[in-house]
Amino acid sequence: MEYYTEQAEFVNFYFFPLLVQSAAMKTYLTIWLGAVLGLFLLTGCGLETAASLPPLPTLAPTGLAAVSTLPPPTVNEGTAVADATTVAQLPIHTPEPTATATPTVTPSPSPTPTATPIGPCEARMPGDDLFTIVTQTYGLSRDYAPQDIVLLTDYLPVDVTLGYPTELRQVALAPLLQMIADMQNAGLQPWILSGYRSYSAQAISWEKWNREEPERAAILSARPGHSEHQLGTTLDFGSPELAEIVGIEDIEFHTYFYQTREGIWLAENAHRYGFTLSYPRSAQELTGFFYEPWHFRYVGEEMATFLYESGTYLTEYQLINQPEPCIP
Ligand code: DAL
Ligand code: ZN
Repeated sequence: MEYYTEQAEFVNFYFFPLLVQSAAMKTYLTIWLGAVLGLFLLTGCGLETAASLPPLPTLAPTGLAAVSTLPPPTVNEGTAVADATTVAQLPIHTPEPTATATPTVTPSPSPTPTATPIGPCEARMPGDDLFTIVTQTYGLSRDYAPQDIVLLTDYLPVDVTLGYPTELRQVALAPLLQMIADMQNAGLQPWILSGYRSYSAQAISWEKWNREEPERAAILSARPGHSEHQLGTTLDFGSPELAEIVGIEDIEFHTYFYQTREGIWLAENAHRYGFTLSYPRSAQELTGFFYEPWHFRYVGEEMATFLYESGTYLTEYQLINQPEPCIP
């Protein structure tokens, strides 16, 4: 399997408007009359001008971790993570409570009575949650494997699967089948090149990258436990047009996938089926991974559409709006 990328530069501009407050001149006159002498006191309060940065927005209502507490991706030393103000107004995702997350003692009074108690780290975000965060910093347990995996060759013809034994979680199957059917009806020929990868399969892949391309391995491949493919909800798509565009026979992965008709269609429509592009071109600084126009993760139609319409991407959203996850 060949895999090439092109170099690109990304520049982020952050702008904080100054907040200027001013108060009108105020004069207070106090006259105190005594029995013998009249006393009056004049005081004036000065013009107060304050120029300061606005306070950081509240990232979450109940003590959820701020992105500023997270270390930057290891691949881009010296670069900052995305500014927390950029998507701070997005709705908050509260993970579904789990049995182990339920407090067993009477909670002590809270200063914010409506606050949702946050359970132990390891109980907050089970691997099966569609919004489980998986980054270069936050990974999955080596023991995590989804239990509802299906084999795509049982559902899709060989001209889509290419005969590869690609696996996917059942929860994403129906939306995928609908999306593939709609693509084919539109005259496209989508390929599915990769899906669920176990922790050990990712370890083999990572070691291969590290051995063959040690300088680029960190931005092209996730370390074991840190790949969205371990979730079972992530797929890599391909296109028969890619080889001609790139000029390399049999090539399956290349950033020029974004120029293929299949890549264009997926970029514009995958969200309608619940799939979101995990590593867009603008995301490398935050995610640490190079642009992957073929890599889509199923998060459900509502979240995928929200991300698409708000021009953000999953990791960016998660680091700001979700509780700080566990580091296994
Ligand atoms: N290529 C992506 C980052 C992965 O290995 O999961
Ligand atoms: Zn992928």
